This record gives sequence, C-alpha cells and structure tokens, in this order.
Amino acid sequence: MNITVEQERSIVLEILDRMGVQKEDAEIVADVTVDADLKGFSSHGIGRFPQYVKGLNLGFITKDQDMEIEKETVSTALINGNHKFGHVVTYRAMELAIEKAHETGVGLVGVHNSNHFGATGYYSDMALMQGMIGIVIANTEPAVAPLGGTKPIIGTNPLAIGIPSNKNYISMDMATSASARGKLLEAARKGEKIPENVALDADGNPTTDPNEALKGSILPFGAHKGYALAFMIEILSGPLVKAAFGTKVTGTAHCDATCTKGDLVMAIDPTKFCDLGEFEENVDDFVEEVKAAGNVLIPGDIEARNVEKHKEEGFKLDDKLFNQLKEISSELSFDLEAFLGEE
Ligand SMILES: NC(=O)c1ccc[n+]([C@@H]2O[C@H](COP(=O)([O-])OP(=O)(O)OC[C@H]3O[C@@H](n4cnc5c(N)ncnc54)[C@H](O)[C@@H]3O)[C@@H](O)[C@H]2O)c1
Repeated sequence: MNITVEQERSIVLEILDRMGVQKEDAEIVADVTVDADLKGFSSHGIGRFPQYVKGLNLGFITKDQDMEIEKETVSTALINGNHKFGHVVTYRAMELAIEKAHETGVGLVGVHNSNHFGATGYYSDMALMQGMIGIVIANTEPAVAPLGGTKPIIGTNPLAIGIPSNKNYISMDMATSASARGKLLEAARKGEKIPENVALDADGNPTTDPNEALKGSILPFGAHKGYALAFMIEILSGPLVKAAFGTKVTGTAHCDATCTKGDLVMAIDPTKFCDLGEFEENVDDFVEEVKAAGNVLIPGDIEARNVEKHKEEGFKLDDKLFNQLKEISSELSFDLEAFLGEE
C-alpha cells in the first residue's frame, strides 16, 4: 500500500483527534512522524505510531496534562513533561532552549516524565532553522550491554546535532547503538533479517534474527567508543535531568509501563561567537572541501535526498503496519481505506 505525505499526516491527525488529543499537540506529533518518514527514518515514523496509540489507551501517554517548568535560570530549565506525548514535550523544550539561546547564547533544557519522541533530529533541526546549532540527547529502555557484559543496561541513547548552513542540510541523527532498536522492531514486523555485527542473542551469540536480538542486546556502534558515548549520554539524560537511568528506564519501546527516560536539549547561538553569515560561509567551505575528497557524503545528505524522493513518491506501508492502522481506525469507528479514498 502506497500513501502520500499528506495522507500519512491525515491518518495521524484523524486518529489523534478521535482519541481526544488536543489539536495543537496532534499537529506536532503528525509533523514529527511525517518528518521521520520523509527523511527515511521509517523505524521512527508512522511504523511507531501504533505504539503511541497503545500508550494513550493505557494512559501512559496523557492528553490533558500540562507540562511544568520545575527549575529555571536565564540559560537553563528543567521540564516535567507530566507524561504528555514525548514529541510535544521535546518540541516545547527545544523552543525554550532557542528562546534562551537568543538571550544568553546558550539554552540548555532537561526533560523528565516524558515519553518516546520519535526521531531525534527533528528537534535539532528546529534550532538550525533559526540559525542556531541544535544538540539533542536522550536515554531509552536498556538495549546495549556494557562491553564485556551480556545484560542490556544502557539505552540506544540517540544523539542529534544540527548545524546551520546556507547551502547544505547538515544533521547527524543517530542511535549510539550499532542500530536503532526501532530498526529491529521494523525488521521483526516485516519478517526481515538485520545486518550482521549489529546484535547478540540472549546467550551473547551474534544474530541476524531481529526477534532474537530484541531478547538479547544491541552492540554499541564503534566498539568501546560507542559504549563510552552511550554511557555518558545515559547520565546526562538520566540523573542530571531527574530521569531514570540503566535498567530503571522503562516505557520507550514497550508502551505498557510509565516512561521514565529523560532528554537534554541544547541550542547554541553562533552570533555570540562570530558573525552568522561568516560562520555559515565557513561551514559551507568546509563541506565543499570534504566533498572534493571523492565520492563522499556529509551527515544529512542521505536524509535530504530521501525527503525529495518521498515528497514525490510518498511512503510504502507494509501489510502488517497497514492492518495495524486499519484495526486502530475501525476501533475508532472509521474505515481507513474509505478515509484514504476521500483524501
Ligand atoms: N527516540 C529514541 O529514543 C531513539 C533512540 C535511538 C534512535 N532513534 C532514532 O533512530 C533513527 C535511526 O538511527 P540510526 O543510528 O539507525 O541512524 P543511521 O545509521 O541511519 O544514520 C545515522 C547518521 O549517519 C549519517 N550518515 C549515514 N551514512 C553516512 C555517510 N556515508 N557519510 C556521512 N554521514 C552518513 C546520516 O546522515 C545520519 O545522520 C534516528 O532518527 C534516531 O534519532 C531514536
């Protein structure tokens, strides 16, 4: 089944509207979801949406709560998300970080009591669209075993950095595990294998079966360096922001528990260091130099190409995902096929 970008957006909005989610919040969730699929992060787009519907139904994602700023200075804040949609909480956190960065040069906002927020790069993009540098990290339910161990204790702990530029989309958006867990969930749903050297089964043996990998652990990217980075992110988006850490993190991949993860988002205003035009020109000169080195890509190239492709071609929904969405729709008293026909 193929759907257009607009149809995907409408499906998300219709379902959330029928579930009583406030329009403003639903718009953010739809935007983040569509953006992930546009960029080719299908593991974090509409494929992840049934998880959020379940979370809403079980009450682990709240609809009517407001977020609270628990602590604040001119350049920092700590937000209690009161378990609203993670997309909404992190969106508001980055808005606040950008506002603070305009004033002081840097805005650093921590988040706890939130939920899974989809693809990390959406929020760092918010900063680069304002001529700022955006950095976003988060922890997740354990998936990665510390080097030398077999028990998952560390999350897939994503890191996204966006850099403003005149000519290029520059964004690194990645899990610190060899693969995002979402890619394993997606492969399991589609009945596909995962690449080698990505995950271990529960006995610590290498596996390409996503179901065995989900029972076991995902390797860190880049051996000890990925492990070290994920370890640090666990602390910066755990204890620092009053969120859980290690095996106490729940509710990011399994929506049948309260989500206890945390986020740390940062916006940096380059004009507090140098002229923005000059900064962007130097960044673009650097990109040019890198690209002159051969057939090379820069972080963000693949996503920029995917956006163009998907705007034209739309998205392919696999049968299992389409059926999940059909089931959700029929529980909300609408027929998905008829709805798509009307769109
Ligand atoms: N919400 C969460 O808790 C959570 C947790 C983990 C991951 N995620 C998301 O999962 C998604 C997928 O993560 P991933 O680690 O599988 O990403 P990935 O491996 O597909 O891409 C990682 C990054 O590498 C860059 N890249 C790829 N090939 C390149 C090349 N040849 N040269 C230069 N740069 C290159 C990409 O532009 C991208 O920025 C991301 O959106 C991430 O935010 C979310």
